[in-house]
Amino acid sequence: MRITILVDNNAEKDLACEHGFSAWVESDGLRMLFDTGQGPALPGNASRLGVDLRAADRLVLSHGHYDHTGGLPFVLGLVPRVQVHLHPEATRTRYSVRNEVARSIGMPPAAKSALKAWPQESVKRDSLPVPLGPGAGLTGEIPRRTGFEDTGGPFFLETQGIETDSIPDDQAAWFRSGQGLVVLTGCGHAGLINTLEEALLQSGESRVHAVLGGFHLSQASPERMTRTVQALRELEVDLVIPCHCTGEAATKALQQALGPRVLPGFAGMRLDFPEPG
Ligand SMILES: [Fe+2]
Ligand SMILES: [Fe+2]
Repeated sequence: MRITILVDNNAEKDLACEHGFSAWVESDGLRMLFDTGQGPALPGNASRLGVDLRAADRLVLSHGHYDHTGGLPFVLGLVPRVQVHLHPEATRTRYSVRNEVARSIGMPPAAKSALKAWPQESVKRDSLPVPLGPGAGLTGEIPRRTGFEDTGGPFFLETQGIETDSIPDDQAAWFRSGQGLVVLTGCGHAGLINTLEEALLQSGESRVHAVLGGFHLSQASPERMTRTVQALRELEVDLVIPCHCTGEAATKALQQALGPRVLPGFAGMRLDFPEPG
């Protein structure tokens, strides 16, 4: 199985970077695009990396934020057919409210229109887990169990900053590999450890081999960082690949605590995992 990061806040030379995330997953019988970035970086990066998005059989949206869904019009205009997966709340109107300034950060109107125009039998809106073939799945809504994790930012359903957005649509994808479970997150708004625990539960695997994606720890308290590191140690995660919205300070803290097990991600990174035995 191979995962290629197509869009990220960081990129290798010759690739575009942007605040956003998108990854391409190829495994036995699965060609999946996980998120689409904001839009501008995806087409050029995919073609430079030799990824033919037209071959996608699944398009998964980790959640409805603009930096994961903005590339939808491009992708749906390109692929002949693809099954789209999203949570029913992924299209809700939502804001980030900081210092009394509200910013709309939901799915852009063009992306909503592209979804509406797509054959509706190929748009699956599920809050429950969805199997993605043998040995892979989408978590659906992730229970918030740990108590020390939150959505990671000032997210609200209206512009006054009163009604909190719990981002129920946040979901992750998991894959069994010959080395253990591999988990792919978008922004990790449900919490990195909540996400890993849910993926373990759903997959029936006993350990997480690797986790990659946005962990949204840029505003994490020292307590949250400590407990996150402790949980990653307890779960014996071999490979932690912080991307996108994890935050520079949090990435450094993870590296300091976990050493070479942490490899910061970037557009152009390719990760190969053996198929399950
Ligand atoms: Fe994000
Ligand atoms: Fe997000």
